[in-house]
Amino acid sequence: MDKVKVLVVGSGGREHAIVDAISRSKYVSEIFCAPGNAGIAKQATLVPIKDNQVKELCAFAKENGIALTVVGPEVSLAAGVVDEFTSAGLRIFGPNKAAATIEASKDFAKDLMARYDIPTAAYKTFSDYNEALEYVKAGKFPVVLKYDGLAAGKGVVIPETLEEADATLKDMLLDDKFGHGKVVVEDFLTGPEFSFMCFVDGERVYPMAVAQDHKRAFDGDEGPNTGGMGAYSPVPIISKEDEEFALESIMKPVAAAMVKDGTPFRGVLYGGLMKTPDGVKVIEFNCRFGDPETEVVLPRLKTDIYEVFSAIVDGTPMPTLEWDERATLGFVLASKGYPGSYDKGYEIGGFENALSDEAVKIYHMGTAQKDGKIVTAGGRVLMVLAYGDDLAAAQKKALEAADKIECDNFFMRRDIGWRVL
Ligand code: AMP
Ligand code: GLY
Repeated sequence: MDKVKVLVVGSGGREHAIVDAISRSKYVSEIFCAPGNAGIAKQATLVPIKDNQVKELCAFAKENGIALTVVGPEVSLAAGVVDEFTSAGLRIFGPNKAAATIEASKDFAKDLMARYDIPTAAYKTFSDYNEALEYVKAGKFPVVLKYDGLAAGKGVVIPETLEEADATLKDMLLDDKFGHGKVVVEDFLTGPEFSFMCFVDGERVYPMAVAQDHKRAFDGDEGPNTGGMGAYSPVPIISKEDEEFALESIMKPVAAAMVKDGTPFRGVLYGGLMKTPDGVKVIEFNCRFGDPETEVVLPRLKTDIYEVFSAIVDGTPMPTLEWDERATLGFVLASKGYPGSYDKGYEIGGFENALSDEAVKIYHMGTAQKDGKIVTAGGRVLMVLAYGDDLAAAQKKALEAADKIECDNFFMRRDIGWRVL
C-alpha cells in the first residue's frame, strides 16, 4: 500500500484534533496544515497559506502531490475552496460553496426547514428595520435575533426587552454592524442544547457521537456568547430515542432536501439541536466540524478517519464508525477579555506537567511560536481534555491538567459538564 499525503486547512483546536486523528491513520505518510499553529506544528508541516487563499491552497496541493485535503473553517468553504479543488480534479473533504450556504445564511437554512417540515423555531426574515420592529413588538420576549450571515458566533442576540431588541435591530439593519444583510427573528425555545455532527454524502448520513458545547463565557452559563468554552461527549441527557429522532427526522431529511434542491451536501453537517419540551428542534446548522466539539468527539473515533473521509469524497462504502467507550471532556483556556478584545503574545508553560497523565490531550486553538516559546495568539488558546471511565472522571483529570498550565493571561470555565454531573 502506498501511503499518501494529506493537507488540513485551518488553524484552531478543531484542526489540531483533525490532524491528530489523521496521524493515527495507517494510510497517511505525511500531514501538512495551512496555516496551522504552534501545537499542530508538532504533528504536521505548517504551510504559510491563509484559510481563505483558495487559489494558493489549490496550487500547493497540486505541486505537492496531496492526495486529500480536509477543510476545517467555514470561511474557507464559503470562499469556495471545495469548488476550486474539485474543478482542478483534486480530492477534498467539505461541502461546495452552494451547500455551505446552510451555515452562511440563516435565512437559507430556515427556508429549507420550513419547506421540508423540519422541526425548528417559528421565524420571519426582515431586511427592513421598521417592519422587523413592528413584528418584534407584536411578539413575546425574550426574542431571538439572528444576523443572516457569518458572524463568528456573535450574530445572535436574545433581547429580554423591547429597548434592547430595538437597539439590536438598529445595529443589524440600520448601521450594518455585522455587514449589510437581513435579520431572522425567531421564537425563543428552551431546553438543553447538543451538537449532532454527521458525515454526509448526498443522501447518505453517518452520525458521530453526540457532544455538548458551552457557549457562554462564564460558569453557570453566564456572560456573553463565545465560540465555545468547553465540551464533552457522550451526553447522557440525550437518549437513544432523541438521537434516533435527530437522525431520522432532522439530519436525513435535510440531507435529502439538499439533494432535491440541487445543492447536495458532502462533508460534515453539524446540527445544533435543542431538546425542547415539544421534542428535539434545530437551532442552527453548520457546514463543518464544530469547535470545540471536534476536540472531544474525534479522540473517541476508533475507525481510521482517512477511510471515513475517502468514503464521503469518493462515494464508496462507509466503514462502521466505532467509538471509544470512554467519555471525553475538555476545558478551553481563553485570553482574558475574550470574546471582547484581548492581548496576545503571553508565554504559555507547564505543557509537560499537564501531559504527564496519558489520558490527557491538549489541542492548540490559538497559539504561535516566538523565540522558541509557545505564546498566546487568539481568543481561545488551548483545549485541555481528558478521557475517563465516565464524565466525572474525565472532568476531574482534565481540570487537574488545565490547572498545571501556566499563563498570566488566561481565564476558563471550571464547570464544563455541569448539566449532567
Ligand atoms: P446560533 O448561532 O444560531 O447557534 O445561536 C447561538 C446561540 O443562541 C445558540 O447556541 C442558543 O443558545 C441561542 N439560540 C439561538 N436560537 C435560539 C432559539 N430559537 N431559542 C433559544 N435560544 C436560541
Ligand atoms: N461550537 C459551535 C460551533 O462550532 O459553531
